[in-house]
Amino acid sequence: MNVSKLVRPNVRKLKAYEAKETPARVKLDANESPYGFPLNIKGIATNRYPDPEARRLRTAIAKQSAVKMDGVLMGNGSDELIYYLITTFGGPVLFPTPTFSMYGIIGQALGVKTVGVPLDADFDLDLKKMLAVVRKEKPRLVFLSSPNNPTGNCFSADRILKIIEASKGLVVVDEAYQAFAGGKGFTAFLNDYDNLVVLRTLSKTGLAAIRVGYMIARPEIVSEVNKVRLPFNLNSLSQAAALEAVKSKAKMRAYVKAISSERDRLARAMDGIDGVTPYPSEANFIMFGVKSPKVKYKALLKKGVLVRDISAMVKGCLRVTVGTKTENNAFLKALKETL
Ligand SMILES: Cc1ncc(COP(=O)(O)O)c(C=O)c1O
Repeated sequence: MNVSKLVRPNVRKLKAYEAKETPARVKLDANESPYGFPLNIKGIATNRYPDPEARRLRTAIAKQSAVKMDGVLMGNGSDELIYYLITTFGGPVLFPTPTFSMYGIIGQALGVKTVGVPLDADFDLDLKKMLAVVRKEKPRLVFLSSPNNPTGNCFSADRILKIIEASKGLVVVDEAYQAFAGGKGFTAFLNDYDNLVVLRTLSKTGLAAIRVGYMIARPEIVSEVNKVRLPFNLNSLSQAAALEAVKSKAKMRAYVKAISSERDRLARAMDGIDGVTPYPSEANFIMFGVKSPKVKYKALLKKGVLVRDISAMVKGCLRVTVGTKTENNAFLKALKETL
C-alpha cells in the first residue's frame, strides 16, 4: 500500500518539524531561559485526570493579567493555541515574513490559505502592503509576533493598531517574548478592540519543559476556541508547576531582569566586534549579521557553541539566545576566534 497517496495533499507537502538535538557545551539556539525554575510540586493524584478547565491556573493568570477567567484559555504551549485558533477560524491566515514558522506550518497542515508579507528594511511591518492584503484577502486571522522571532524587534504599536482596525478577522498579537520588552504589551488594548487576541507563553521564562501557553481575548472568542480544545490538554504536573511559577512573581522578575541586562551587555560587546552586526532586540535573543553565516555557524559549533542558523530566512544572519554571563562570554570568545 502506498501510504503517501492516502495522505491529504496539503500534509503530503509538509516536512515534519525538525527540533534537532545537536549536542553542544553552550546551548544558545532555542530561545530558552538559562535559568530553570526550582519547583516543589506535591499532592498530584496521578490516577486522576487533570482539571480539564485548569481553573486554579487560569484564575492566577487572569488575576495577573487583570482580566476575567473566562477571557483566558490554556494551551499545551502557545503552539497548541495557534493550532486551535486556525482550526476554529480557518483562513486565509496572514503574517509578515520572516516570523515564527508555526503560523505557516499549522496553516498548511490544516489546509488553509496562508499569505506572508515581507517586513520592511527595518524589520517593521510594511503597513501599506499588509493593509492591501487585509483588504484583498480578508484574512480570518492575522498573526503578529511582537517582539518578532527571529528578528528580535517589536513592531510599531501604531502599525499593529492600524492592522487591528482594518481587519474584519481576528488579529493575534503573539507576545511570547513580551517579558523581555518591558511595558504592558497589547493586553492593555483588549477592551478597545473586540477582534484582538493576545498569546503568551511560560516557555521563554524558564518553563519550556512543561509546555504551558495561554491566550487572552474576549470571552466570546475564548468560548469558540474552547470547543476545539482537547479536554485534558494541560496535564496535572504542568498545571501545578505553572501555578507555582506564576505565583513566584519576584523570582520570575529577577530572572527576566538578569536576562535583559545580559542581552544589552552582549549586544554592546557584539557591536564592538569587527564583521558582526547585532540588530536591536527586545527579546531574549539577538539576530546578528556575519559574512558566510553557514561557515561561522559550523565554526562556532566546533568550539562547542550552538546558535541558530537563520540565514535561509534572513540573508547573512544567525541568531543567538541570551544565556548566563559565563555562556555569553564563551559565545563571545568563540565568535571572535571564528572571525
Ligand atoms: C513567537 C513565538 N510564538 C510562540 C512560540 C511557541 O512557544 P510555546 O513553547 O509556548 O509553544 C515561540 C517559540 O519559539 C515563538 O517564538
